[in-house]
Amino acid sequence: MAVIGIMDSGVGGLSVFREIRKLLPDEHYIYYADNAHCPYGEKTPEYIRERLHSITDFFILRGAEAVVLACNTATAAAIEDLRNSYDIPFVGMEPAVKPAALGTKTGVIGVLATAGTLKGSKYLNTKGRFEDHVKIVERVGKGFVELVEAGKLTGPKAESVVKAALEPLLAEGADRIVLGCTHYPFLLETLRKVAAELGHGDVEFIDPAPAVAKRLVQVLESGAVQGEPLEGGAVQGGAKAAAPVEETVPRPRGVELFASGEDGKLKEFYASL
Ligand code: DGL
Repeated sequence: MAVIGIMDSGVGGLSVFREIRKLLPDEHYIYYADNAHCPYGEKTPEYIRERLHSITDFFILRGAEAVVLACNTATAAAIEDLRNSYDIPFVGMEPAVKPAALGTKTGVIGVLATAGTLKGSKYLNTKGRFEDHVKIVERVGKGFVELVEAGKLTGPKAESVVKAALEPLLAEGADRIVLGCTHYPFLLETLRKVAAELGHGDVEFIDPAPAVAKRLVQVLESGAVQGEPLEGGAVQGGAKAAAPVEETVPRPRGVELFASGEDGKLKEFYASL
């Protein structure tokens, strides 16, 4: 059994965790929501890298042998730096441009993501590989993360926030839309409703989470992770990143939830997965 750290700026990474858990139900997971510093979308890459070092140290203190950046913005800003700084494997989010480009009938694909992700070299390189074949249109999902963190996934407010970003993509002809932020799949019901109301009920939203879960399986199968027995550490939420592990009680296998801020919504979302 391996101990795996999964992080996001908030609850969004749980959309990735639920896919991981389907493929790897028997590992031990430590989920960290950095919600005291959320949203990451408009923060500088330096700031995000600093947060990620702190969170990775916290995971390692608690025995993590692999880390999933279940956050596109964190992946864009920090994954290379983390891989150069630690010898455990890191799995990050991949912008799902390829499946969108392969599936489009209109020849136009849309990408919804944070400003940080859209500016990152990872996304720009991927985009560069496909832009000769399809037209790629983008929008920042302005206000999406805040809606999800507040648990406001449906209703008139959610619909108007979603419509502001989605309508221009549909107007430009996009028939495949990449969800380039792990918070966005929680708005799927509203995204579909708004698309249908705008006369685009056939648009497909693409969530890269299943592909990321498969990637983690490959990493574990590659032997890069030893799968040590669990030792030490308290099983409770609310600890701050890099807080020292004071207790050394045996930990049951399963899931530990931590948040750098208030952890009520995290527990609520987790319970609803
Ligand atoms: N869930 C995140 C992502 O995938 C971060 C969103 C944010 O904090 O702005 O990009």
